Amino acid sequence: MNSAEIEQIVKQVIGEMQGTAPKKTSGEYPKTARVAMLTSVEHFDVKEFPVPPLGDGDILVKVEGCGVCGTDAHEFKRDPFGLIPVALGHEGTGEIVAMGKNVKKDSAGKPLNIGDKVVTCMIFKDNPDITMYDLNKQNVGGADVYGLLPDDDIHLNGWFSDYIIVRSGSTIFNVSDLDLDSRILIEPSAVLIHAVERAKTTGILRFNSRVVVQGCGPIGLLCIAVLRTMGIENIVAVDGEDKRLAFAKEMGAEKSVNFKNYKGIENLAKGVEEAFGGYPADFAFQCTGSPVAHANIYKFIRNGGGLCELGFFINGGDATINPHFDICAKEITTVGSWVYTLRDYATTFDFLKRAKAIGLPVEKLITHRFPLNEINEALKTNLSMQGLKIAIVNE
Ligand SMILES: NC(=O)c1ccc[n+]([C@@H]2O[C@H](COP(=O)([O-])OP(=O)(O)OC[C@H]3O[C@@H](n4cnc5c(N)ncnc54)[C@H](O)[C@@H]3O)[C@@H](O)[C@H]2O)c1
Ligand SMILES: [Zn+2]
Repeated sequence: MNSAEIEQIVKQVIGEMQGTAPKKTSGEYPKTARVAMLTSVEHFDVKEFPVPPLGDGDILVKVEGCGVCGTDAHEFKRDPFGLIPVALGHEGTGEIVAMGKNVKKDSAGKPLNIGDKVVTCMIFKDNPDITMYDLNKQNVGGADVYGLLPDDDIHLNGWFSDYIIVRSGSTIFNVSDLDLDSRILIEPSAVLIHAVERAKTTGILRFNSRVVVQGCGPIGLLCIAVLRTMGIENIVAVDGEDKRLAFAKEMGAEKSVNFKNYKGIENLAKGVEEAFGGYPADFAFQCTGSPVAHANIYKFIRNGGGLCELGFFINGGDATINPHFDICAKEITTVGSWVYTLRDYATTFDFLKRAKAIGLPVEKLITHRFPLNEINEALKTNLSMQGLKIAIVNE
């Protein structure tokens, strides 16, 4: 043992006695961490902050990667949530390098150890009506997530960084059995697991249903993959970009319809019907943030069919529909879908393994990878819609 190692051990022991050091750590406790802070509209500064000591229930995670979400892009462009300065990045994953003495298990009851790969989900708030397993009472719209927190003295609050401190009271999952790409895709995939759970409550979505998925961004493409892993094969994808429609087919859509090739909604609806061999859809998933697309989708659905609207995480404005034709006369059952529950997270881990097992190229969704110091380029690439999922991957 050299003198530096001895010094480290002494520091650790003294720190533990004073309650200022982690109780368990792999190697040397890092002194500083880089954090990408959005400091003004369309500008991140990569700042270096000291890594504070951990509390007994805290976990220090070395970040491996984090996906860029549409929500990050909105915050980058306009700061609609009024969070600047903020450490963004909520689709992240990494490895536990230190933890407080009270940390033993993850939110599913699996043991947690140094070296485990993890993701976080919601941060509990002191509101008994927000139940993480059942959204019937009140959904988790008001819950917090790392990567969308107001800045504080700790600063290590987002996944676009070298390290993040997961504090006591957060939800965390041990996902060491998933590869890095799959782990980066957990958060967006959970959105679709939840949407399909919501769709199932209508009783209309079945094994042999004809399903239309409108919008083939990451959300719509993952929707198709989730449906395929459930055994639903009769899927028609609708979008305006041929490249995305081609990928929809790789993900498991049987047919695709480019709405730009049709004049007027009646013709487009006929196009979708033809893709199903002359039948309207039993069920539809609306995965665009476009009000026109919301209005259109009722025309694709049969009488007595169902609709899951999940495309408006951001307020995209009002849509005009005709309640007589679109809802009443057709008796369409509509459900909205908003993020996910903890249980959906657990289902998502299985989905990602199953998707791989049946050969769906889910990891191909990550089209661009940037190092942390190119975070501004990464966000600009996302806004330019050149790729699908853009990710920050740490060296
Ligand atoms: N419910 C939730 O919890 C939740 C979570 C995350 C994202 N979202 C929402 O999901 C939506 C999709 O997310 P994304 O990351 O895939 O976005 P995206 O912008 O990458 O994809 C949207 C797709 O819709 C297509 N499109 C636009 N107008 C259309 C139209 N009229 N008809 C058919 N296709 C059309 C676009 O060409 C694009 O491919 C976003 O609007 C986002 O707000 C919801
Ligand atoms: Zn997201």
